[in-house]
Amino acid sequence: MEQQKVIISQQLQQSLNQAIAECEYDCLFVLTDKTTVNCCLPVVEPIIPHPFNTITIEATDQHKTLDSLSHVWSELQRMGATRHSLMINLGGGMVTDLGGFAASTFKRGIPYINIPTTLLSMVDASVGGKTGINFGGLKNEIGVFNNANCVILDTEFLKTLDQENLLSGYAEMLKHALISDEKMWAEHIKYSPLTSHLSSLTSMIAESVAVKQRIVTEDPTEKGLRKALNLGHTAGHAFESLALERKPVLHGYAVAYGLVVELYLSCIKTGFPTDKMRQTVNFIKEHYGRMPITCNDYSHLLELMHHDKKNTGSTINFTLLANIGDLRINQTATEEEIKEALDFYREF
Ligand SMILES: NC(=O)c1ccc[n+]([C@@H]2O[C@H](COP(=O)([O-])OP(=O)(O)OC[C@H]3O[C@@H](n4cnc5c(N)ncnc54)[C@H](O)[C@@H]3O)[C@@H](O)[C@H]2O)c1
Ligand SMILES: [Zn+2]
Repeated sequence: MEQQKVIISQQLQQSLNQAIAECEYDCLFVLTDKTTVNCCLPVVEPIIPHPFNTITIEATDQHKTLDSLSHVWSELQRMGATRHSLMINLGGGMVTDLGGFAASTFKRGIPYINIPTTLLSMVDASVGGKTGINFGGLKNEIGVFNNANCVILDTEFLKTLDQENLLSGYAEMLKHALISDEKMWAEHIKYSPLTSHLSSLTSMIAESVAVKQRIVTEDPTEKGLRKALNLGHTAGHAFESLALERKPVLHGYAVAYGLVVELYLSCIKTGFPTDKMRQTVNFIKEHYGRMPITCNDYSHLLELMHHDKKNTGSTINFTLLANIGDLRINQTATEEEIKEALDFYREF
């Protein structure tokens, strides 16, 4: 698969001009959600070619639905979009996922540009071509693989993002560092995402996206290597689902907790060095705290891991590490081993 065009922006106007110049279009549409229309559109409005039309949907993943999608299609139709119209998705992963799918399906596909505005969407959701919506109670049930024509990454948008969403995105960056190399990992566990200046994040975002791009270019449809990106996610999704029944946590927080469990499994099953596990776990403890669980939750967590869509048979599938950057995909663990890892999580 061809590598997606990503602009690491220093100057938004220049980046926008560059991205838009490569797409010939008749009508321009900007998709926002009810938050980004107020905090991100004003940044873009003075520098984007006029005229353009704005479409706004409700915010957050719970609105990544057929209803919101249908609204986008209807608005495109009502405002006269053609096969040669261009859509710009301005928002977090919810907007880039749904907007990417709307653009990929409207009149069999129109070009689209992603301008991610959360850290999570910058380093993860907006690149890699996965688009879609939730359906029938299942996440990302309907969708297509289709790359954006261009992705523009600019930390300017992060100025208005709350600390929790910033940390949520940072957990995916930490994951990218763990699956990449020791230097990147050391840099990530030394960094203070909440107190450092936002501009210092630009080079780390660039590095993080490069990791994701390298992996998805080699394995766009998740036959093998792309599973590297699932590190922390088998246990993480189980924590996320359990939290939904109590007090919901942001995806990245669940991934951080999942990393604790899966790095422990990596130590006992694939020889990951204990000191590096401890250093990573300390960073997670300091920044993400811990979602409280008891041993009474173990069987439910195991059940949730069994239902994870990454599993093929009756075993639970993990991506583990033998060292930083040294991947072991398609690993399994026994219930006893997973419970031992959950004990470690409770005590860390
Ligand atoms: N396609 C992929 O590969 C992929 C990967 C990871 C996640 N995702 C999807 O991404 C979504 C989560 O993305 P997310 O974490 O960006 O959440 P989100 O898009 O729901 O955004 C979180 C909140 O932040 C607000 N927001 C966005 N930008 C802001 C800004 N600059 N300032 C202030 N507030 C802002 C949003 O309006 C929303 O309320 C999920 O739907 C998930 O399934 C997709
Ligand atoms: Zn994730």
